[in-house]
Amino acid sequence: MGRGLATEEEKARYVRRMFGAIAHRYDLTNAVISAGLHRRWKEATVRLLDLRPGGRGLDVCCGTGDLALLLARRVGARGRVVGIDVSEEMLRIARRRAAAAGTGAVCRFAQGDAEALALPDAAFDAATVGFGIRNVVHPASALRELRRVLRPGGQLAVLEFSRPRHAVLARLYDLYSFTLMPWLGRLASRHADAYLYLPTSIREWPDQDAFAAMLVRAGFERVCYHNLLTGIAAIHVGTRPPSGHAPGVARP
Ligand SMILES: C[S@@+](CC[C@H](N)C(=O)[O-])C[C@H]1O[C@@H](n2cnc3c(N)ncnc32)[C@H](O)[C@@H]1O
Repeated sequence: MGRGLATEEEKARYVRRMFGAIAHRYDLTNAVISAGLHRRWKEATVRLLDLRPGGRGLDVCCGTGDLALLLARRVGARGRVVGIDVSEEMLRIARRRAAAAGTGAVCRFAQGDAEALALPDAAFDAATVGFGIRNVVHPASALRELRRVLRPGGQLAVLEFSRPRHAVLARLYDLYSFTLMPWLGRLASRHADAYLYLPTSIREWPDQDAFAAMLVRAGFERVCYHNLLTGIAAIHVGTRPPSGHAPGVARP
């Protein structure tokens, strides 16, 4: 882990405190450092899901609720969306935004850990995680939890930073991530090192194929990914196998 966060508890504590501290400026900072691109990527993520009006959606590591609000739009007034995050500060903003968007009755936001979801088995038709899985101490545990709470045949879409496949773009992106982005991030978020943690954690995150393999090991099938900007970010999609279907994956 970057920044010398030696232990798992240290990482969990740092992540929780850091997101709590930047919550009130998180949306602004995201808009600044991604030049608004993150919104289009989130829309693309939700478009990949077969989620119908009246359906049940879950957004884990929901932050201020961008993906949850997009899911709410998809499921409509008869549907249900749950957003889960460790940070109460983030959740407070998500609730406010859902109310302002007229989806306060569709969305419920609750504090929780992605690795131990206080949700029933097979309760959701689709789930999303946006720029969150990288921050979880044991991502494989979170993926197994996501599989558990999806109904058989339900889909998971994970939007996460990844590895640019274009050599020149990769160099430029590296330069941006370790110079301009931390500076812009510090300016917009007013947090000393949150946007130093970001590029370091991205560098340590598995590439597209390694993360796809992690999804398969967690019990997802039909796993595929879509590169965004040649792989600066990627959307991975996997399906919980239909019931009775034993996926050929290793159990930890
Ligand atoms: C980079 S933000 C992404 C927020 C939102 N999904 C988005 O795309 O804008 C990551 C979020 O994950 C949350 N988070 C980190 N570790 C978590 C965990 N173990 N369980 C639940 N949420 C977690 C943080 O509090 C933060 O709100």
